[in-house]
Amino acid sequence: MTTLTIRGGRPLQGTIRVGGRKNATLPLIAATLLADGTSRLENVPQIHDVKVYRNLLTGLGARVDWDPVNGNLTVHTDGVRPGEPDYHLASSIRASYYLLGVMLARYGEASVPMPGGDNIGHRPVDQHIKGLTALGAEVWVDRGIIRARARRLRGTSVYLDIISVGATIQVMLAASLAEGTTVIQNCAREPHVVAVANFINACGGKVTGAGTDTIRVRGVERLVGATHTVIPDDIEAGTWMMAAAMTQGDVTLQNVIPTHITPIIAKLREAGVEIHELGDAVRVIGRGRPKAINVKTLPYPGFPTDAQSQMTAMLSLAEGTSYVTETLYEDRFRFVPELVRMGAEIRVEGRTAIVKGVERLYGAPVEATDIRAGAALVIAGLAAEGETTIYGMEHVQRGYEKLEQKLLALGADAKMQRQGAAVV
Ligand code: UD1
Repeated sequence: MTTLTIRGGRPLQGTIRVGGRKNATLPLIAATLLADGTSRLENVPQIHDVKVYRNLLTGLGARVDWDPVNGNLTVHTDGVRPGEPDYHLASSIRASYYLLGVMLARYGEASVPMPGGDNIGHRPVDQHIKGLTALGAEVWVDRGIIRARARRLRGTSVYLDIISVGATIQVMLAASLAEGTTVIQNCAREPHVVAVANFINACGGKVTGAGTDTIRVRGVERLVGATHTVIPDDIEAGTWMMAAAMTQGDVTLQNVIPTHITPIIAKLREAGVEIHELGDAVRVIGRGRPKAINVKTLPYPGFPTDAQSQMTAMLSLAEGTSYVTETLYEDRFRFVPELVRMGAEIRVEGRTAIVKGVERLYGAPVEATDIRAGAALVIAGLAAEGETTIYGMEHVQRGYEKLEQKLLALGADAKMQRQGAAVV
């Protein structure tokens, strides 16, 4: 168990660099397996989920070189053979499901345990299975393992019944080596969908339309490894922005693409937070308590579900009552009782949290139940009076790089500990 102890109440001040986007990096690492030879990913974040993915690839026969200082990850795929990824590793993260489409497209067979990841509600993979089946694969679930095979995938039309980032990327990855053209409709439009399309194209693929609701993939015979720079993490940026606002601080975030975080910037401005867009940086100044606002999570370019917990934490200190509606995951308010321990006044009715802003939060022992819930408790702890200890920080380490280092750089009084010893 890893804990973070924060003595709160200090405004965050200073400059930090946002890392590469987790939800772009994981499918990109999987995508390297589509290509012959060597691929190099730059600006890869130093987070737990990336470590898991590196080990998954190594287990499948890839040679993976990792340079944590510069965030460069090099994957040599010549030794990869079809096989089953390590069960415990693969089932511990959700994004392992990308190995299904990739291995199927490249080797004609794939097996992946039913994915794990955060416990935030029912997370089916029916649209992934629908897409791969439409491409001509035989897909079945055998004692918790999803298995698929196909001699060669065939291009087709795939209409996704719901907007799913995972299913959009899955079908795009698989279709890149299929025979003929695939048209995917009702696609997710997140910048990380575009990033994966860009990587496939850099490897010699033919993907158009990523970033719109219709993606067209002309399958090619072969892809060849390429170099790609991972886009900045929108959610990490958003989390620090809300931390700055909540502690009434003044924080500059480098390595940000402001257009990718438009929904977060817009809602923070609505709450009265001062934000300056400075090219590839943003400066966030919290002057006084934020104002109450209403927020509803939606697929991109709507407000991201992955920033909902942090926004709810921030609004717990707002002037007035806010309504936060979660439309994607039914269990994404599990952090609310923890915030209430800290003095927040929040009532959950169905999919909406009614957040009555209070003047101050108080430090308390609390438990992170998932990565973003943990992030919300961290920023609440930064703003609270007194000491907060957050248990279950391993959830947060799945997706936030150099957290303790960045907290200290911004002047926070924070200490991460693992079974009594400091985490480096
Ligand atoms: C990804 C992200 C996660 C983020 C989410 C939405 C990764 C590893 N995780 O998760 O951080 O919160 O996007 O931005 O990238 N659904 C189905 N059937 C499917 C697939 C999805 O019903 O086959 C539903 C989900 O339950 C959810 C919605 O569609 O309600 C969106 O899910 P999706 O975009 O696929 O998210 P994930 O890939 O789970």
